[in-house]
Amino acid sequence: MNAMTGAGPAEPLLSARDVSVSFPVGSRVAARIRREERLLRAVDGVDLEMRRGEALALVGESGSGKSTLALALAGLLRTNHGEIRFDGRLLPASRSRADRRRIQMVFQDPYSSLNPRLTVGGMLRELLRVHHVVPANRVRAFSAELLALVGLGEADLSSYPRQFSGGQRQRVAIARALALRPDVLVADEPVSALDVSVQATILNLLSNLRNDLGLTLLLISHNLAVVRHLCDRVAVMYLGRIVEVAPTEQIFSAPRHPYTRGLLAAIPRMTEGAADGSAPAIAGDPPSPLRIPAGCRFRTRCPIAQPRCETEDPALAADPGGAEHLAACHFAFNPGAAGAGADGAGGDRAGAERAGPVRSENEQNA
Ligand SMILES: Nc1ncnc2c1ncn2[C@@H]1O[C@H](COP(=O)(O)OP(=O)(O)OP(=O)(O)O)[C@@H](O)[C@H]1O
Ligand code: SF4
Ligand SMILES: [Mg+2]
Repeated sequence: MNAMTGAGPAEPLLSARDVSVSFPVGSRVAARIRREERLLRAVDGVDLEMRRGEALALVGESGSGKSTLALALAGLLRTNHGEIRFDGRLLPASRSRADRRRIQMVFQDPYSSLNPRLTVGGMLRELLRVHHVVPANRVRAFSAELLALVGLGEADLSSYPRQFSGGQRQRVAIARALALRPDVLVADEPVSALDVSVQATILNLLSNLRNDLGLTLLLISHNLAVVRHLCDRVAVMYLGRIVEVAPTEQIFSAPRHPYTRGLLAAIPRMTEGAADGSAPAIAGDPPSPLRIPAGCRFRTRCPIAQPRCETEDPALAADPGGAEHLAACHFAFNPGAAGAGADGAGGDRAGAERAGPVRSENEQNA
């Protein structure tokens, strides 16, 4: 196993190593006077690997950098630092058309991601032509096949995005992503803008497509029930960094990072009489990515922080027990070292109880 990223022995399909993405903020005049730009470190040293065919969830509070990382992986945002590899090959900052095809995104809002002036058929025709996906005489048949894959009919080729419901529009957006025959589909909160009544059907569609087409799926979601249901592994992001990665059931039953335990604790317990307040969620707000704390970036909110955490930035390290479980906490796999305050830091049953049973989607938003 790769001790940095949690991937198994097989070569990962997509990997990020020490990837950072920063945005300059504030006025240029002020930056000139200060002689330095203010940088917002949205993604700040991410290590992550995806295996071919897996569904990996990316979770974390709002603003933790999930979408920025997804855009960087898909080649839609430039990285400031680090390496992104596809099938072992380093992807250049400016990707070729062929490389861009391999990783496609589905966004939260299907309406704004579709061109309102083109029919679905026109949109697919344009895409298939530019990328030479099929010969010209196969374009219509292939477009109809794509719509069939997402549960729409050939007649829908002549409709405009505004003529569809939200769920249907997301189906169109998924068909468009699949048109380029990608290896990796990155779905950034693909159902959070949809009616609750259609969320499950779109998620099931994504899951079925992944199985049928052998896709590798990166699913960004605030909904931990969905994550638990659909994903093989979970990566937890905090303030621009991956702080824990593990197989899904390990994350839910034995979370190792205090932040992950806080996220799970934020899900109210379902069992009767369990609302005993014994599992506090994460205290306070996350610091600004303009001022990431020195040492461990979670220390300002961590219930078990120690003096060492103020100066030493914990690396994402593997469980010495050999499990495919990584966490970026000095005490993740050695809770005794954190002293009495670290009760539960070893991922005992407490986390599992806090996570509670799987709940309906709208109840379970983290
Ligand atoms: N284009 C941009 N310019 C400046 N700052 C940005 C830009 N895009 C994102 N950010 C900032 O980067 C940080 C990470 O944002 P990002 O959208 O990646 O978070 P997220 O985890 O996807 O959040 P959410 O769950 O709300 O979608 C935030 O502080 C955000 O304000
Ligand atoms: S390294 Fe320290 S501050 Fe960071 S999560 Fe672990 S105990 Fe908390
Ligand atoms: Mg986002």
